[in-house]
Amino acid sequence: MIRIEAAQAEQYDQFMQLMHEEAREYLQSTLELMQISQKQFDHLFRTLGEMCGVYEDQRLAGFYWIEQRERVLHLHALMLRLQHQSKGIGSQVLEMLSSRYRGMVDSIELGVHDSNERAIRMYERHGFKTVKHLCDLNFRVMQKQL
Ligand SMILES: CC(C)(COP(=O)(O)OP(=O)(O)OC[C@H]1O[C@@H](n2cnc3c(N)ncnc32)[C@H](O)[C@@H]1OP(=O)(O)O)[C@@H](O)C(=O)NCCC(=O)NCCS
Repeated sequence: MIRIEAAQAEQYDQFMQLMHEEAREYLQSTLELMQISQKQFDHLFRTLGEMCGVYEDQRLAGFYWIEQRERVLHLHALMLRLQHQSKGIGSQVLEMLSSRYRGMVDSIELGVHDSNERAIRMYERHGFKTVKHLCDLNFRVMQKQL
């Protein structure tokens, strides 16, 4: 069973580090292609939307970062520490967000790097469909109707 808690100010650095570890193959190049500096990204990371820690048995498993824009919930990031992956936690987070936001938004949207086949498979299993390809970034936009 997972527990969700709003991120504490002192956790943002830890979450950013996790993001760099888990997305090391594409984060830097993606920011460069989007012409966003690390400093600008840090600022967005700390100010945009809602950041939550995900806990498994009192242990920090990872975090997610969401932002509601009108009738769309943007899932900017879902990152779990290696030892907490493949235990159904990502699936539980997606199910929790779907039930919490059903009626409040029409869809959940996210961007995922084309190389991240495991994540794409998980999103597809939860009803997400690719709606757009950002070819220059090697990213796809996936959407789930609620
Ligand atoms: C991608 C990510 C969020 C998926 O979350 P997860 O908790 O690992 O995913 P789940 O466990 O729900 O499902 C993934 C796999 O575990 C299996 N699984 C699900 N419940 C399980 C359980 N109780 N015990 C063992 N395995 C289980 C699923 O069958 C699935 O297998 P598959 O990927 O080989 O098809 C997570 O792995 C992660 O943070 N990865 C690194 C960062 C990243 O890539 N984030 C996404 C960026 S868009």
